[in-house]
Amino acid sequence: MTHIFNHPLLKSKMALIRDKNTNTKDFRELVNEVAKLITYEITRELSTKKISVETPVGVAECEVVDSEIVIVPILRAGLGMLDGILSIIPNAKVGFIGLYRNEKTLEPVEYYFKVPVIDEKTTVFLLDPMLATGGSAKKGIELLKSKGAKNIKYIGLVGCPEGIRVLEESHPDVDIFLVEEDEKLNNVGYIVPGLGDCGDRLFGTK
Ligand code: PRP
Ligand code: URA
Repeated sequence: MTHIFNHPLLKSKMALIRDKNTNTKDFRELVNEVAKLITYEITRELSTKKISVETPVGVAECEVVDSEIVIVPILRAGLGMLDGILSIIPNAKVGFIGLYRNEKTLEPVEYYFKVPVIDEKTTVFLLDPMLATGGSAKKGIELLKSKGAKNIKYIGLVGCPEGIRVLEESHPDVDIFLVEEDEKLNNVGYIVPGLGDCGDRLFGTK
């Protein structure tokens, strides 16, 4: 299922992120801020356990998160969201998937894959800001499933109908969280209007 966030604060930050005049420093900070804000929503269904806590005046029956969480950014652009999410879930473990798109075929090419131990109870957040053709996210999910992941959530900033369709059809069990859905892909695989090349804008390359 695909969830599109619809929140005034996120929309305002996305307007700045999309602006071609936003510099590398501000772009990086804004992507992390958006990632931090959406963490509240993407963690809504984490399991909890009951604990008793002594307050200054009695005993409170409380609940605390009881899920093993692994966060996996797809390099490079997924790294831009990592710190924001870790600032809210500091005990999460972190894995990495290195993929780049072949410029001609737009197919993802794998160059790195290292993740912590994952079992069927682990909640895995796969981070990649751009869901364009959907090839990178699809491949990332295949890799995570090959390590035993059963509960995967894809977290991105901007998607388009083409990428959403590919992901929904290839991995119907994976929840897709996107801040905004754009109009289309162009003929060189960029999201329109999108925000340009997210990795380049995060890291100042071009
Ligand atoms: C970008 C982006 C995604 C991918 C999305 O990566 O960071 O990983 O494209 O496109 P897709 O949905 O068509 O697969 P890129 O290949 O530019 O690598 P980089 O992040 O290392 O620059
Ligand atoms: N990757 C990006 O960084 N931007 C796009 O628009 C598509 C893929």
